[in-house]
Amino acid sequence: MTVDLNSRYGLSAVHSEVVDACKIIEPCNALDMGCSSGRNALYLAQLGFDVTAIDINPSAIAMLERICSEEKLNSIQTQVSDINNASLDTNYGFISCTVTLMFIDPSRFDDIIADMQKSTFVGGYNLIVCAMNTEEHPCPVPFPFTLKAGQLREVYDGWELIKYNEDLGTMHNGAQLQFATLLARKLS
Ligand SMILES: C[S@@+](CC[C@H](N)C(=O)[O-])C[C@H]1O[C@@H](n2cnc3c(N)ncnc32)[C@H](O)[C@@H]1O
Repeated sequence: MTVDLNSRYGLSAVHSEVVDACKIIEPCNALDMGCSSGRNALYLAQLGFDVTAIDINPSAIAMLERICSEEKLNSIQTQVSDINNASLDTNYGFISCTVTLMFIDPSRFDDIIADMQKSTFVGGYNLIVCAMNTEEHPCPVPFPFTLKAGQLREVYDGWELIKYNEDLGTMHNGAQLQFATLLARKLS
């Protein structure tokens, strides 16, 4: 059972793909890349994950730290960090990166993915949700980075794809765009 800390602190509900992933991933050490104020990190911590939560925005990290302090949660380590550096220095059983890659420097995509993969234990998992820009559904938002059809699946060649889709989603403002969703397990 998890307490709904997200409502208590005015955060959005935990991402549905994180909820789904946690149905199969046992608690382990997890990295939340681009955690914002921690809606997913708080959920993971309550399930027993030992969470490292990183974001480039110091205010978001400060908010998450305040929540952890008020709730006496000591299983979330926070860090202000730029994922463009692609310089993870620990291995994780689960790396989650939901709706964050759209904000990276496009030239850093390959290095960021390679760093995530290198920093995942064999048998561990990566979860990525990222906006796409395709011929059928041009991305209506000027994100710095968007995925092309098949691009995310391609870079996870050799991993077990537990979930992969490029479904159409609707944003809060009603705009429709495709998202690539990947949950993959490292095989070797
Ligand atoms: C749309 S929010 C998603 C937050 C969270 N992953 C979720 O699912 O709610 C994107 C987050 O990515 C962070 N971000 C953007 N660029 C980043 C970067 N280069 N390094 C780390 N975090 C970054 C933003 O500060 C923001 O908190």
